[in-house]
Amino acid sequence: MSSLAIVGSQWGDEGKGKIIDYLAGKADMVIRAQGGSNAGHTVVINGRKYALHLIPSGVLNGNTVNIIGNGVVFDPESFFAELELLEKDGVTTDNIYLSDRAHLVFPYHKTLDELYENARGIGDIGTTKRGIGPAYMDKIERTGIRVCDMLDEAGFRKKIERQIEAKNRLIAGVFGGEALEGEKIVKLYLEYARRLAPRVRDTGVMVYEAMSAGRKILFEGAQGSMLDIDLGTYPYVTSSHPVSGGFTTGAGVGAGLIRDVVGITKAYTTRVGKGPFVTELLNETGDRIREIGHEYGATTGRPRRCGWFDGLVVRYSARISGITGLALTLLDVLSGFDDLYLCESYDYHGERIDHFPASLDVVSECAPVFRKLPGWRTDISGCAVYEDLPANAKAYVNAVEEITGVPVKIVSVGPDRKQTIIREEVF
Ligand code: IMP
Repeated sequence: MSSLAIVGSQWGDEGKGKIIDYLAGKADMVIRAQGGSNAGHTVVINGRKYALHLIPSGVLNGNTVNIIGNGVVFDPESFFAELELLEKDGVTTDNIYLSDRAHLVFPYHKTLDELYENARGIGDIGTTKRGIGPAYMDKIERTGIRVCDMLDEAGFRKKIERQIEAKNRLIAGVFGGEALEGEKIVKLYLEYARRLAPRVRDTGVMVYEAMSAGRKILFEGAQGSMLDIDLGTYPYVTSSHPVSGGFTTGAGVGAGLIRDVVGITKAYTTRVGKGPFVTELLNETGDRIREIGHEYGATTGRPRRCGWFDGLVVRYSARISGITGLALTLLDVLSGFDDLYLCESYDYHGERIDHFPASLDVVSECAPVFRKLPGWRTDISGCAVYEDLPANAKAYVNAVEEITGVPVKIVSVGPDRKQTIIREEVF
């Protein structure tokens, strides 16, 4: 058995799509186990860009089996939109399966996402408005509707009608919004059910059997550790568990079945949405990183906040996900800077902090303590092996290893599959 989990070690958008796609070429099975269509994985193959939100990145690799696990909140509208784009491009999509235990995202979840955000006013989270939070709220409240429910028309009708009535009381009654038309939603979802039925499985059995047969399994994390509902920068988080522990419950397998964990780590730091960000650069350097790194959301198009590498964040992620190796991405974006800065610890009113604090009030009063390194001038996007990198780029990679305590096993120097330097095979 060989199983590898890929986690985002920052606030998401670390370039997971590309690394997952690269590794998926070797995987027999790729599993998405948490989150929903809030994820945005951009994969570039032969210069063609694919933005995947819900469909596992293994879909671009022909023979890989792709699983959308029970921990995902599944939005059929988003799924079919993505599917159609892939099929138009001639991508085989027969190998995508959906857990019968996954919870469904309905139009009222998206409406409520928007209404809750508006009601939060300046305290808003900055969600993707894809209905993710409200769908997980229903799941935890035990009023959610699952994929298996959708396959029984009479039972589904009863459940959804009850939910629509309750949600309309909230939408129209509490928020003064426009009530949703129940029958339209019922019809739409019954049609989705018909189209989805051939893909619906008890995917936990599929994963377990593949593992038992010694297949190579890749768990594809969405978002990043700092967005974890328990361990992230709460409340500026998503509603799922984007840490390795979340992938086992979200795929329906035992905790011992994940062996290696690769943390996808940007060579600098970005985040979308609100919340404190100690190494943020609210100046020309931040703007420069944003422009060179095309730091705009794949799902929402929002400009991302940019800052220097925060070693405390990655060290924390390594601990909570059991990261065994890093894939350092977007190193090429840092080419051309005179000096580079990596945050080694925080300074909290004169006190040194080495572990990411729980209280955001504390985090927002922390100042970064930087290690300064000289930059490199040459373009590194064509470097194929580690030895090709300029000495200062290698020194930067070494500093990341020292500060985080985790070896950098992969270095990515551009968006294409080919622009990937493997220092140590991870899968
Ligand atoms: P939600 O997941 O839409 O509820 O959004 C909650 C927070 O997570 C917001 O700050 C989002 O910007 C952030 N978020 C959700 N998905 C992603 C992602 O795939 N990458 C980066 N940030 C994300």
